[in-house]
Amino acid sequence: MPISLNRIFVTTACLLALSSSVASVPLGSPSSTSSTASPSPTVPYASDDPNTELWSPNSNIDPQPIRGSLGSTILGPQNIPLQLQNPSLLAPPTTDHGDVPNAKWPLDLSHTRLQTGGWARQQNVNNLPISTEMAGVDMRLEAGAIRELHWHTSAEWAYVLKGSTQISTVTSDGQNYLATVNQGDLWYFPPGQPHSLQATADDPAGTEFLLVFDNGTFSDDSTFLLTDMMAHIPKEVIAKNFQLPQSAFDHIPGQELYIFPSDPPASNAQAPTDPQGQTTEPYSFPLSQMNATQRPGGTVKIVDSTNFKVAKTIAVAEVTLEPGAMREIHWHPTQAEWDYIIEGYARITLFAANSNARTFDYQGGDVGYIPPSYGHYVENTGNTTLHYLEILKTDKFQDVSLNQWLALTPPALVQAHLDVSDETISHFSKTKPIIVGQ
Ligand SMILES: *[C@@H]1O[C@H](CO)[C@@H](O)[C@H](O)[C@H]1NC(C)=O
Ligand SMILES: *[C@@H]1O[C@H](CO)[C@@H](O)[C@H](O)[C@H]1NC(C)=O
Ligand SMILES: *[C@@H]1O[C@H](CO)[C@@H](O)[C@H](O)[C@H]1NC(C)=O
Repeated sequence: MPISLNRIFVTTACLLALSSSVASVPLGSPSSTSSTASPSPTVPYASDDPNTELWSPNSNIDPQPIRGSLGSTILGPQNIPLQLQNPSLLAPPTTDHGDVPNAKWPLDLSHTRLQTGGWARQQNVNNLPISTEMAGVDMRLEAGAIRELHWHTSAEWAYVLKGSTQISTVTSDGQNYLATVNQGDLWYFPPGQPHSLQATADDPAGTEFLLVFDNGTFSDDSTFLLTDMMAHIPKEVIAKNFQLPQSAFDHIPGQELYIFPSDPPASNAQAPTDPQGQTTEPYSFPLSQMNATQRPGGTVKIVDSTNFKVAKTIAVAEVTLEPGAMREIHWHPTQAEWDYIIEGYARITLFAANSNARTFDYQGGDVGYIPPSYGHYVENTGNTTLHYLEILKTDKFQDVSLNQWLALTPPALVQAHLDVSDETISHFSKTKPIIVGQ
């Protein structure tokens, strides 16, 4: 019975070969000795061409678009620092194919909005069109500086990169919440819920944090600001609203403040007494205190609405990978992924179905984006620990492991597709590896 090789799985096998740990297992050679269910190939075998990165960002070479016998030198101008940072774009693996949209945005290419007391820069569909489901903002506040009281139609999830940030919020039921969120910890605000952010003086330099929103069209330049609203409602109405003389509002700003300097909050600050009570669930989460799952080659911590109740639309895997280690080949069934590299060097291939695949290189400060169901891996291609955030738009973190899938599928079926040996299949893992060592 002829069984045709499926092109999707041929591509998957190419991705597999990128993992040296898997490549050390004898991958199936044509099983000419097999007596039963020997596949009848209808397409050629996947290429064994070496497809590693040809240089790294710190190489001292003249990078050229040449891989093996393919390509040729550049005769026109070269931007060598950019070329060194993107070896998989200039000399891509031969497994790349088709028109996968750009999936990399260095925040250093974003416009930076400079304010007295800090700055903000963002990534959204305007600079990375593939990122339809999520957007991000990198924000810096000097000690005491405030990102003013505001709200927006998207949910806001945050990771503190440095220093600590005091957050405040009030729910529609009138319950309040105040907390200081430390480096490596999270907060989350549901859509429309008003909140504020203020740098504490715990770090004399203040704070910097990463904000992620559950809508790719989000722009931090079009949020609803307290001062902007007050400046655009007749003063008589404001006085009537609070049942106070208009003179009580003589000094409200005539335009938005957005980010502005102020005195740092007291270190023991408490939320005002609230007759409705404090919120029953916290709006911050101590990710830095959580114990990581240890794997050969790295660690992972997962936070979603099962352990951080209020985080209904955004989940995270905080991952560290040692040099050469790899987040295994996997995909997220229905969830878009927004990645942020905190430090180190990463290589990711997006497999987009229909023969389409593209590989990108990332480093600290870069954003990556992977649409739902796109097969991918994250490989540490540097000489230092890779630390990154895998942020999913979901209430529940989910992924499908290629390794586990194939281990739990009838071996004859796997053999019929991939023509691998029983020995090879016996090495597939019935539990998710999550991370594979070098
Ligand atoms: C994202 O925001 C835009 C503009 O506000 C809105 O039209 C769209 O419906 C939102 N998308 C989702 C998935 O909520
Ligand atoms: C984390 O691990 C440490 C050391 O193994 C242990 O003492 C501690 O109880 C763990 N914490 C939690 C929250 O599991
Ligand atoms: C890793 O070390 C090698 C050998 O010293 C060097 O060529 C390469 O540039 C380094 N890679 C990075 C990302 O620093």
